Amino acid sequence: MSSSPQRAATPTGTRRVVVGVSGSIAAYKAPFVVRLLRAAGHEVRVVPTEAALRFIGAPALAAVSGHPVDTGVFDDPAAVEHVAVGEWAELVLIAPASADLLARLAAGRADDLLTATVLTTTAPVVVAPAMHTQMWLNPATVENVATLRRRGVTVIEPDSGRLTGADSGVGRFPEPERVVAEALAVLGGDGAPRAGAPAALTDQDLAGRHVVVSAGGTREPLDPVRFLGNRSSGRLGTLIAAEAARHGARATLVAANVGSDVLALLPAGVEVVPVGTALELEAAVRTACADAAAVVMTAAVADFRPAVVSGTKIKKHGLDGDGAGHGGASGAAKGDARPAPIELVENPDVLAGLVTRPPRTDGGRTLVVGFAAETGDATGDVLAHGAAKARRKGADLLAVNAVGDGVGFGDVDSAVVVLDRDGAEVARAAGSKGHIAAGLVNLIAARLA
Ligand code: CTP
Repeated sequence: MSSSPQRAATPTGTRRVVVGVSGSIAAYKAPFVVRLLRAAGHEVRVVPTEAALRFIGAPALAAVSGHPVDTGVFDDPAAVEHVAVGEWAELVLIAPASADLLARLAAGRADDLLTATVLTTTAPVVVAPAMHTQMWLNPATVENVATLRRRGVTVIEPDSGRLTGADSGVGRFPEPERVVAEALAVLGGDGAPRAGAPAALTDQDLAGRHVVVSAGGTREPLDPVRFLGNRSSGRLGTLIAAEAARHGARATLVAANVGSDVLALLPAGVEVVPVGTALELEAAVRTACADAAAVVMTAAVADFRPAVVSGTKIKKHGLDGDGAGHGGASGAAKGDARPAPIELVENPDVLAGLVTRPPRTDGGRTLVVGFAAETGDATGDVLAHGAAKARRKGADLLAVNAVGDGVGFGDVDSAVVVLDRDGAEVARAAGSKGHIAAGLVNLIAARLA
């Protein structure tokens, strides 16, 4: 803390808090934040942006804070107000923080009293974003948030739920009680920033949690050299496990035939459990989930496996093989290369099993997240199929890979729409797999909080 006389110690327990308000419709909730802070005995000065004043009047903010309200660096140039306000503050809390405000902070702008105050203060800065889901998940905002967190700004995760319009999703301004509690938690008992506090509330928001991710594609053997498989690389699931670890989680990746080039994306400390078949994957996931806060099933699990696996290579002409269960392999006459039908039996639905027979041993609940790649067909579009699957599987969240013709997401790497177990849309994201992984882990962290 500065030794400036303006920042002399305040009575024990009382903090000087600058509440910044920016141009989000949630600005109308700022007075509740101010009232909670004052009710807890703290002194508050409110600094709104010009845009905030379109949503909430300066007289209301002055009344609840008990201080006059200024917005511009030129309101009282002689007072060098941005420096004075920044030095006065023991904590700067911007609630709500709009996408535009986050962008201006990340860029280091100082074009109004609030952004100038953030640049001059040495106090911890906490922001509580509130915006529409698309804006929150936009790559520009994701990068701005990452930049701010890297610089030590505490970014409170927005809530998920009903937004301003008829839609819902992540981006909602949290309850003022949570905003105030998380902001004050940044300060230690002596008013100094608590060591490591910003990280503990932001990047580390999954600390102490176990997150299990399945990735890749199962391979169901026919014989020692052949299998029924799929093209899944496991990249998205691997990135989700990496992102969960970055948020402080203990992460386990159940990797079904994931290449070493993809596994190289994992940071140190992520446990990798290699599996081959659907049955192996089921056993590994259920074991790992015994204490999991969340499980994310990105793996492409084969719905069926060959009824019988030949112990020896099945021969085209059935010369040596037992050809067990594959009829024609052993039954075909020499010279008759007509393939025999392969009898299949159904694999367990691992995801549905996690919902109906949760493996947690401590009685706690695991948040279950599934994936579904849908293309749409004559019976319904991508979202109709996704919503039906969400209701059928009963997972807490189902991320539908909205791929295929006519969906209209444009030329992007990937796109997902996240549905709840009733098939209602919770969030959507489009962009690189890393971006989608970041959005999903934010959503999971918010759900677990
Ligand atoms: N899944 C699973 N076990 C299976 C099949 C799928 O756990 N035997 C999981 C996947 O990991 C994914 C979700 O279920 O999270 C949806 O997978 P998908 O293949 O889209 O669903 P299916 O139930 O197999 O439906 P479909 O008829 O569309 O293949």
